[in-house]
Amino acid sequence: MGILITGSKGQLGQSFQTFFKKEGINFFATDVELDITNFKKLREYVSNKDIDIIINCAAYNAVDNAENDWQSAYRINGLGPKNLALLANELKAVLVHYSTDYVFDGHKGFLYTIYDKPSPISKYGESKALGERNVQNIANRFFLVRLSWVFGKGNDNFITKTIKWSRNKNKLRIVIDQISSPSYTNDIVKATYNLIKTENYGLYHMTNSGYCSRYQWAKYILDKINWEGELLPALSHEFHTPAKRPFLSVLDSFGLEEVIGYKLPSWQDATNNFLKEIGLIK
Ligand SMILES: NC(=O)c1ccc[n+]([C@@H]2O[C@H](COP(=O)([O-])OP(=O)(O)OC[C@H]3O[C@@H](n4cnc5c(N)ncnc54)[C@H](OP(=O)(O)O)[C@@H]3O)[C@@H](O)[C@H]2O)c1
Repeated sequence: MGILITGSKGQLGQSFQTFFKKEGINFFATDVELDITNFKKLREYVSNKDIDIIINCAAYNAVDNAENDWQSAYRINGLGPKNLALLANELKAVLVHYSTDYVFDGHKGFLYTIYDKPSPISKYGESKALGERNVQNIANRFFLVRLSWVFGKGNDNFITKTIKWSRNKNKLRIVIDQISSPSYTNDIVKATYNLIKTENYGLYHMTNSGYCSRYQWAKYILDKINWEGELLPALSHEFHTPAKRPFLSVLDSFGLEEVIGYKLPSWQDATNNFLKEIGLIK
């Protein structure tokens, strides 16, 4: 099996590398040096390699910056996956691509299923929806996997940011009106690998089990590290961020459990495991 991981230095990319090394599976790992927006370079790179699976972990994830710098977001999140879909077809390879709960507006009232139509409210969400459409319309064989609130080693995420904020402050305000499901890269990688083996291609929602608000998640993290400050509930509009975030964007993983045979661990267990991985709890 020849595997190419693009965007391999990000959170998900690093988890894939660690997992494949542990399993003794060979892979090619590239990051920005193999720019997924450059189709010619992509073709040159694969020309002397046997690749059966392309796992795209590359993305533009700066949600607020994307409001102004939308061309970069559209290019990396929209055109990048299109290039990879074309390349996968040329190689007769399978494309694994990740998207986000931010393709939804968060107004549905409850869980989003794979049946629901994207309705993004930010440029980032639009760029990811464009990538989804390109993968679905072009790739012959693909896994399109929506995640939300991703955390793992390799980049800043909500857990590492909350811990940093807690070190400089004795009062923290975190929003109660953004609700979704955290996704731990180590759990996502294992589930993706199990999914790839089934050859049951298509669209999936994949997150840790259960859901919470950003406030509840921060409380859980801060209790675990015995922070003694005061955590206060806040509302999103108080922070004046350039990009809007969905209110309730929990992804229902209907279809996934039926194929891989299990539910992913709870977000609480996943948070504990990450805090252990980075040495903050035993
Ligand atoms: N992070 C989240 O909360 C979240 C939520 C839902 C879904 N997702 C999706 O989950 C997937 C994995 O996210 P992640 O958090 O692991 O991402 P990440 O940590 O931000 O990593 C993305 C990687 O892609 C690289 N990259 C950027 N532009 C590239 C290009 N043109 N060509 C090749 N590589 C490029 C980045 O390099 P630089 O750092 O040098 O730019 C970075 O190493 C993405 O599809 C993301 O959209 C993430």
